[in-house]
Amino acid sequence: MISGTSQRPVRLGLLGCGTVGGGVVKLLTDNAKYLGMRVGAPLEIARVLVRDEKKERVPELDRALVTTDPELVLGDDTIDVIVETMGGLDPAREWVERAIENKKSVVTANKALLAAHGPDLVERAHAAGVDLAFEGSVGGGIPIIRTLREAFASDWVQSLTGIVNGTCNYVLTRMNDAGLSFDEAVKEAQNKGYAEADPELDVGGHDAAHKLVVLAMLAFGARIDSKNVPTEGIRAIEPIDHRLAKRFGYVIKHLAVGRDAGEQIELRVHPALIAQSTPLANVSGVLNAIALEGAALGPCMLSGRGAGDMPTAVSVVADVLDVARALRSGVPGLMTRGIQMQVRKVVPIEELRSRYFLRFNVENKPGVLARIALALGDAGVTVEQMVQEEAPSGVHVVMTTHQAIEKELRKALNAIAAQSFVVRPTQVIRVVG
Ligand code: NAP
Ligand code: HSE
Repeated sequence: MISGTSQRPVRLGLLGCGTVGGGVVKLLTDNAKYLGMRVGAPLEIARVLVRDEKKERVPELDRALVTTDPELVLGDDTIDVIVETMGGLDPAREWVERAIENKKSVVTANKALLAAHGPDLVERAHAAGVDLAFEGSVGGGIPIIRTLREAFASDWVQSLTGIVNGTCNYVLTRMNDAGLSFDEAVKEAQNKGYAEADPELDVGGHDAAHKLVVLAMLAFGARIDSKNVPTEGIRAIEPIDHRLAKRFGYVIKHLAVGRDAGEQIELRVHPALIAQSTPLANVSGVLNAIALEGAALGPCMLSGRGAGDMPTAVSVVADVLDVARALRSGVPGLMTRGIQMQVRKVVPIEELRSRYFLRFNVENKPGVLARIALALGDAGVTVEQMVQEEAPSGVHVVMTTHQAIEKELRKALNAIAAQSFVVRPTQVIRVVG
């Protein structure tokens, strides 16, 4: 028993002990004394479920607690809290639902699960009078979920712009700063424990879309199907785009953008040019940041390490602490009760008004530039800045536009794509801010 605490331990059942789960075990072990004092009862790891019993684990893990039998965790009535760090939808969904049904609070870092079934799980937790806590699901160690749930409870979030995928930000930074190839940078992110089990979830933008859906639940009270969030990854960004963006005074970041647009809600995930002078432009490597605009508060930005074992474990264990305290105080479920959601329609991307970075690779011959300008002009798209430089084949005509409606811009780009002078497909990156 921890000194200063005479209560029965709060028993934890861990589903998963990989990158994040390993960090959770380490933090629960290293900080056991202080955590117990903060809860008023010791936190005890009761069981740890994994797939492969023989795999090497963090040295802090008591191997005697490891099992591959889910019944030994989910069917154990002496376990108070389930900590899910397995990932994926199945069987995570079934096991989280079962835990909630059995009136156990759940802590999870699984944004894919929350994006697909978050509102349903919140309602189940609400009905069962338990908590569903998910600080680790967005922004790694950044306390963004708490901030939205508690600090913004008195205000209204008008917009949010975030770098929410550590892998994408790390890859873009390493390609830009160290000249690494895309594949080399992804490999590094995997070795550092930042990437998802399937890194396509990261570089394809899907993980950021999952996180945006989770943020939208709290920021905009929105119940969104992540399939409706326009999503683009970072595969199409080439080293030349970084260089040219810099020449125009921008950097390229992978962003999640949300805006309350009245009846509808604007949500999108894509690479974007942002001005070098903005705070988000300096958020590099594995760092994440989320800039919020509150109706009454105005601007507010949170930044920190967005992926990896220990930053995420800090968030997960903070949730364990909250849930355990609530349990010991006899008031479980308060955290989840404050979350109110309704179905909101996402603004179609074709209706977006934005500025754009366009890189045409075209033949170097008279009249080409005029025909590009004409097609853009016909669609009401006006050019803000333009440069031209030699390409391995032909030239690059590179420009930023003033505000334009996306469907009008696409019309112009389709007309240009049909011309015989086009050497390679045009690069299009939205400009944010
Ligand atoms: P990971 O390293 O692959 O760990 C997953 C763990 O779950 C492993 O211990 C694995 O067992 C276990 N597991 C998976 N499926 C299982 C099953 N069907 N039955 C029993 N055990 C199972 O993944 P991770 O990076 O820690 O990520 C875990 C979750 O946290 C994901 O939802 C991820 O999106 C989220 N997350 C990750 C990070 C990060 O930086 N990595 C940050 C925030 C949130 P074995 O070890 O035996 O294979
Ligand atoms: N794969 C995720 C990322 C982990 O790179 O951001 C943190 O959620």
